[in-house]
Amino acid sequence: MSTLGRIIHYSRPYWWRIVVAVLASGTTGAMDGAFAYLVEPLLKKIFATHDLTIFVLLPIGVIVLFTIRSTCRFLNDYYLRTAGELAVVDIRNEIYNNSIRLDLQYYNTNATGGMMSRVLNDVGGMQSGIANVVTNIFRDGISALSLLGVLFYRNWMLALIAFVAIPLTAYPAQVIGRRIKRLANQGQLKMADLSSHLQETFSGIKVIKAFGLEDRSEERFQKVSLEYYDLVRKSIKYASISAPITEMITSIGIAAVIWSGGSMVMKGTMSAAEFFSFITAMILVYKPLKSLNGAYNTVQTSLGAAIRVFEIIDKRPEIVDGPDAVPLVDCQGVVEMRDVSFRYNDEYVLRNISLRAERNQIIALVGPSGGGKTTLVSLIPRFYDASEGAILIDDHDIRSVTKKTLVDQIALVDQETILFNDTIANNIRYGNSDASDSEVQKSAMTAYAHEFITQMPDGYNTIIGDRGVRLSGGQRQRICIARALIKNAPILILDEATSALDTESEKMVQKALDNLMINRTTFVIAHRLSTVLHADQIVVLENGHIVESGSHNDLLKNEGLYNRLHSLQFSDRDVAGSINKQ
Ligand SMILES: Nc1ncnc2c1ncn2[C@@H]1O[C@H](COP(=O)(O)OP(=O)(O)OP(=O)(O)O)[C@@H](O)[C@H]1O
Ligand SMILES: [Mg+2]
Repeated sequence: MSTLGRIIHYSRPYWWRIVVAVLASGTTGAMDGAFAYLVEPLLKKIFATHDLTIFVLLPIGVIVLFTIRSTCRFLNDYYLRTAGELAVVDIRNEIYNNSIRLDLQYYNTNATGGMMSRVLNDVGGMQSGIANVVTNIFRDGISALSLLGVLFYRNWMLALIAFVAIPLTAYPAQVIGRRIKRLANQGQLKMADLSSHLQETFSGIKVIKAFGLEDRSEERFQKVSLEYYDLVRKSIKYASISAPITEMITSIGIAAVIWSGGSMVMKGTMSAAEFFSFITAMILVYKPLKSLNGAYNTVQTSLGAAIRVFEIIDKRPEIVDGPDAVPLVDCQGVVEMRDVSFRYNDEYVLRNISLRAERNQIIALVGPSGGGKTTLVSLIPRFYDASEGAILIDDHDIRSVTKKTLVDQIALVDQETILFNDTIANNIRYGNSDASDSEVQKSAMTAYAHEFITQMPDGYNTIIGDRGVRLSGGQRQRICIARALIKNAPILILDEATSALDTESEKMVQKALDNLMINRTTFVIAHRLSTVLHADQIVVLENGHIVESGSHNDLLKNEGLYNRLHSLQFSDRDVAGSINKQ
């Protein structure tokens, strides 16, 4: 389907608004024609009969006419634009719905700011353009047609003369339209840059302040801003030159009409009244023609935005349910990896990983930074699919079960403690939207969060800022733990935050985690010694390989990497407190 076709497709549910608008704009346009046409009989009547009652009727007629015309204009504008906005609401929802279902890999390669720009700016640009254009095309198109009708009806030869110059305007209009489209595309890309810069600035404001990067950020922003202006300036130039060129060329037509029309009147082949009617129509036809020309440029710009919007709407995630995917029910939480290898791009970051976690076991993943621990656990909820090998839960290949039921079995506490701009209770409820207030409280208690929550001004109804800025690191972690608890899933993935917590909150977080791990199969990327000591298996990952695995005591005896990391930690326990060499 063509881009324009697709846009029209989105307006289909709102067809009755469009019908009202089209009828109203048809009336408006036709009235322009009628007005120009009526000049002739009016003048004739005044000149021929000297009947002056017309001057009593005329003002009344004018008011009536314009009342009808204004009402129609209102109906046209209102219904057409609301139809456009409604279509845009649908498009915006669709682009959002589709984006959040795209694979994580997509977000790794696309800046969030750029995505936001598409949802906001491009959809907006597409809307304003299309709505204006549709208004113009209907109203001005009909208006132009009816006036052209009058022109040709009055004197077709003169009409031909008037428009002899029109084809000449087509070429520059086309060239300018193309330029504007290209510039608009570049402009939108710059806008995406700007918005991605904004997004980074605001979310990283702390780092900017800490490193005193204000001036540098300012400079960078101004540079992109100026580059954006530069593109806009060029497109303004072309848009502004478009109308004058058309005007200049049409002036040739006007001159020709006055010249030949005047001589026709003098020769008596045309009455003066007819000539005035013709001139009225010609003056009136000028405006709709001009805005139709402008509409062409606007449509080019909007189509560019629409193409970018549809690009995202058309994108499909690669990790989806297979055709015979079955729900994963009664999950016991036995997780097995069989010879799993994985690469994000060309290079393997995991190679031949095989391991098996029995029901309710704790598997600790340790090893140097960049070893592949986070990547390994990301494969379990299918954030990414293994490049080779298979992952099984209760002996079902995870690719053979539905994604929804797979994710339902897994609770995740991430290294980044992401909270949403909502109440504390609702943040905990992200783990289980049906949870009752008492369940929310119970999980908060188990996560050692209840106490500090009740000390907040509105308790559980306290709104926490974006990313939970009004909470301490330990408090945020405990809310995330409560969120995972309330989900009550048989499999738990814990990417322990390495952020240094003070001993008190470290103890609290640890106790909360211990509670969370009870009766669950847990994969824990462990930085805390106590977690590692309690683990049923410790898997040591280095450069994407499992170099060692076994219990704490086995591994100590092995005198391998774990032993080295362990002694490193003991020698420097207070500072690092971490089995993972960062
Ligand atoms: N989204 C990604 N795209 C491409 N490469 C990635 C991506 N995420 C991680 N990597 C690479 O994969 C390797 C393993 O990264 P991973 O995050 O799994 O390490 P880790 O063991 O969790 O490290 P840490 O202890 O520092 O958290 C690294 O070399 C990293 O550069
Ligand atoms: Mg990691």
